[in-house]
Amino acid sequence: MKGIASKNRPLFIVGNWKMNPRTVKMAEKLFIDIREGVSRKQLHSKIVIAPPYPFLAPLTELPSGGRIEYGVQNIHYEKTGAFTGEVSLPMVQSLNAKYVIVGHSERRAAGESDEDISKKVAAVTAGRIFAILCIGEEKRDKVGNYFGVVEEQIKVALQDCKAEDLNRLIVAYEPVWAIGSGQTPTAADIEEMRLFIQKVLTDKFGRKAADKVLVLYGGSVNGRNTTDFLDGSSVNGFLVGGASLRARDFLAIIEAAENYAKS
Ligand code: PGA
Repeated sequence: MKGIASKNRPLFIVGNWKMNPRTVKMAEKLFIDIREGVSRKQLHSKIVIAPPYPFLAPLTELPSGGRIEYGVQNIHYEKTGAFTGEVSLPMVQSLNAKYVIVGHSERRAAGESDEDISKKVAAVTAGRIFAILCIGEEKRDKVGNYFGVVEEQIKVALQDCKAEDLNRLIVAYEPVWAIGSGQTPTAADIEEMRLFIQKVLTDKFGRKAADKVLVLYGGSVNGRNTTDFLDGSSVNGFLVGGASLRARDFLAIIEAAENYAKS
């Protein structure tokens, strides 16, 4: 079966490096290896790397060959002020970051509240760069309660947004049980959830706004399952954790997406 939507849309492949690698030298090497791997190709995909904050500036100083865009893994919703240890949107925008991951389950587990997440989404979309809002259930039950969990997460996260803000929203469906576990939903499960997310967005903001929102899948994505997910669903790409930390593994995902787009 062929996915429906991806042909005419760019596929986003977003590498979330989390708190890796250990040194700036290692980060530069990983970035350069990924860049070399995509340098000779005519790319259909959009490649985004979200490194830890301290590596953002040095990586943006390396030539990206125009092929790789930058993201960050979190943000504070205020622009400046007495917020020790925090980093703001204008700071990362001044370093050319174009995407902000918001509400990753690892941050939610560390205590990030729904209210923080909604303020962050509103701040990022108002700041005219893309929010990648992460949502996803902790576990799946047989009666489908996880749909309610996801619906609530979307509604709360977007409570301060207007329809026009959806122009700069990307939703990443990341079931928590699939993150770093090697387990994944089936492509049909992902497609069912993608449709559900679109429905929740349509009910709240109208069809025109909801149709602009790209939906990514994240959770144990690798070079072997990418094609299956693209064949069996219409997701607009992937948020990749573990497999983004080795150039070969990340490039295998990009390769699979490129082959899909060309087929
Ligand atoms: P994973 O992580 O690819 O290692 O499962 C995905 C994520 O946390 O975004």
